[in-house]
Amino acid sequence: MTKVKFFSGENIPLEMHKVRIVQKLNLPPVEQRLVAIKQAGCNTFLLQNRDVFMDMLTDSGVNAMSDNQLAAMMVADDAYAGSETFNRLHAKLKEIFGMEFFLPAHQGRAAEHIIAKTFVKPGDVVAMNFHFTTTKAHITQCGGTVEELVSDEGINTQSSCLFKGNMDLDKLQSCIQRNKGHMAFLRLEAGTNLIGGQPFSLENCRVATKLAHDNGILTVLDASLLQDNLHFIKTREAACAHMSIREIARALADCFDIVYFSARKLGFARGGGICVRDKALNDRMMELVPMFEGFLTYGGMSVREMEAITVGLDETMDEDIISQGPQFIRFMTDELIKRGIPVVTPAGGLGCHLNAREFLPHLQGNQYPAGALAAAIYIAGGIRGMERGTLSEQREPDGTEPMAAMELVRLAMPRRVFTLSQVMYAVDRIEWLFKNRHLIGGLRWVEEPGTLRFFFGKLEADSDWQEQLAAAFRRDFGDSL
Ligand code: F0G
Repeated sequence: MTKVKFFSGENIPLEMHKVRIVQKLNLPPVEQRLVAIKQAGCNTFLLQNRDVFMDMLTDSGVNAMSDNQLAAMMVADDAYAGSETFNRLHAKLKEIFGMEFFLPAHQGRAAEHIIAKTFVKPGDVVAMNFHFTTTKAHITQCGGTVEELVSDEGINTQSSCLFKGNMDLDKLQSCIQRNKGHMAFLRLEAGTNLIGGQPFSLENCRVATKLAHDNGILTVLDASLLQDNLHFIKTREAACAHMSIREIARALADCFDIVYFSARKLGFARGGGICVRDKALNDRMMELVPMFEGFLTYGGMSVREMEAITVGLDETMDEDIISQGPQFIRFMTDELIKRGIPVVTPAGGLGCHLNAREFLPHLQGNQYPAGALAAAIYIAGGIRGMERGTLSEQREPDGTEPMAAMELVRLAMPRRVFTLSQVMYAVDRIEWLFKNRHLIGGLRWVEEPGTLRFFFGKLEADSDWQEQLAAAFRRDFGDSL
C-alpha cells in the first residue's frame, strides 16, 4: 500500500485517484426532509434519491467505477450464448480463486437462492459466523435454520479485537456434533456485514473449514465483502504481512468448495455468481441458472456489467484501491469517537456503524432505536443510512419479535464516492444530533410485511419528536441547510 505521511502528523486518508465524472447533489431544507421521511414511513429504503444529499444507505451497486472499467464496457461481446465477455469474466475468476466452474447470477441473493435450493433440505442447519438478511431468508424458506457461531467478541460493539468476524471454533465443533447428518454447509462471510463489516483471519478460516471438511461438510464463502477482508488480513494478520493481496485471496479460496459473491460490492459493478471447485457440485446447481437467472453465459447480467466486473476484480487485487474504503471509514469512526459518539470499534469495512442503543439509551428495544436514529440522521443532514437492528430481523414463525444482538445504524461508504469534506459534514450533523439526542423518540409499525420487512415496511414516530427535532435544527442553523 502506498504510504504517504502528512508533515503535520495528522492521520488523513489520501485518495489515490482523481475524480473525473461527477453527479450534482441536492440538499433539501430541513422542513422538506421532515416531509420526505414521513412519506417514506420512516424507512430510509423508501426515500427518493432526489431528496438525499449523502447516500450512505449501502455500498451495493453504487461504488465509483474506474476509467478502465468504463472502457471495458465498450468492448462487451453481446451474445446470448458463448459470449467472449463471459469467457473473460470466467477466466479472471479462475485466475483469482483457482476454481474451475462459474455459474453467473444477477446478484448475490440470486446466488444464495441457488445454493440454498440445492443444498438445504427441511430440518437442515447452516452454520455460519453471522447471518446476512437475504442469506437467512433463502435458507429458512427452504426449511433450514441458521446457527450463528461468531466469536463472542464479534457482537461486542466496543472492542479491540482485530478479527471480530472469526468463528468460535468450540461452538462450531459442538454444532457439528449436535447436527450430525443434517448440516447443509458451513458458510463464512467475509467482511461480516451485520456486525459492522468485521473481518475473519486466514488462520481462523483455515481451521474452521478444515473442521468442516474433516466431518464431510461442504464449505461456502460469501465473498461479497472480500475486498475489505483482504485488506484487513494484509494489515492486521502478522503471518500474512508478506503475502500479496492476490496470494491472500487464493489462500482463502483454497479453503472452500464454493465461493459466491455479490458483484454489486466485489468488483465495483453489478451482478453476481458462484465459483465452484468440483464438477459434481457445479452440475447440481447448474440447472437452476437458466430457470431463474438466464442462460449459463450471462445469468441475468448485462455483458457491459460483466466486462466491468472483470476489470473490477483485477482492481480488487490492488491494495491502493481496496484500502480506500477502510481508511475513510476509520477516519470517520475516529472523528466520531473524538466527539464522544458511540460507534462500533474497531472500524471495519463497508461503513461506519453507530451504536444506537448507546446513542439513545432512553429508548426501549421495541421502540426501534436504530430505526429512529436512521430517521433522525436524515432529518438532521439529508444523510441516508440504514437501520441494522431489530427492524432488520424477521419475526419467529409464532409471531414473536426477537430483539437484535446489536442496534446499529450503518453509514455505508461507497468506494471512491465521497470526499473528505462530505465525510466531515456527516460527522458534524451527527455531532449536532448527539447533542440533541434527548429529542429523539421511538417508532411504531404502520405496515409490517412478513418477509424482509425492513425493505418496504412503514413506520411512524411515536410522538411529535420529528417535528421537535426539525424545529431545533432550524433554531440552531438559522436559514442554513
Ligand atoms: N452477502 C452479503 C455479505 C451482502 O452484504 C449482500 C448484500 C448479499 C450477500 C446479497 O447481495 O444485494 O447483490 O443480492 N448486501 C447489500 C447491503 C444489500 O446493502 O449490505 P445482493
